[in-house]
Amino acid sequence: MTERSAIWRSVAFLGLGLAWAAWAFAHGKDRWPVPAEAKNVKNPLPATEASLAAAKAIYVDNCEQCHGEKGKGDGSDAPMYSVKPADFTDTHMMEEMTDGEIFYKISEGRRPMPSFKKRLTEEQRWQLVNYVRTFAPKPEPAPKTVGASVTKKVLPHKHQ
Ligand code: HEC
Repeated sequence: MTERSAIWRSVAFLGLGLAWAAWAFAHGKDRWPVPAEAKNVKNPLPATEASLAAAKAIYVDNCEQCHGEKGKGDGSDAPMYSVKPADFTDTHMMEEMTDGEIFYKISEGRRPMPSFKKRLTEEQRWQLVNYVRTFAPKPEPAPKTVGASVTKKVLPHKHQ
């Protein structure tokens, strides 16, 4: 009796696994699904100079061969893969991702990118989140600042 239910259980697991694989295959090519709760995880680590320097060394050892020295996705191993490594200089893409999302992706990996959950500590992975954010050019400063300085210059004239 127990043996039979064990068999049924493994059949059910196999079915679930196959369904997941089919789903992953159908959806996997364009989007990298990240659970909402992972997206909402807050980054506990401030991007200090020391932690960014530490992250750079980790990046050179573990990421640069695919993502490239400047984060453009053009590392020396990049041509070996059919999926292009992400370009971290893409400001739009980087702005769309939360820190929690980047952390999740580094932790889990996705072929050909390996999972770094076991290779790197949690702290090292958060350091990398801050580090990959340094590649994208900063967005244009808000035009408000310009307006404010113009107003300052104009106002005194009005009173004279
Ligand atoms: C073997 C090559 C390889 C290595 C090594 C590698 N990556 Fe990747 N990485 C990729 C590829 C390919 C993708 C795109 C995967 C996809 O979109 O399916 C990617 C995607 C990412 C993304 C997600 C960007 C997005 O578009 O969603 C992040 C973040 C990332 N990598 C960070 C890192 C970091 C940090 C390291 C080092 C700890 C690293 N990767 C190491 C190949 C690699």
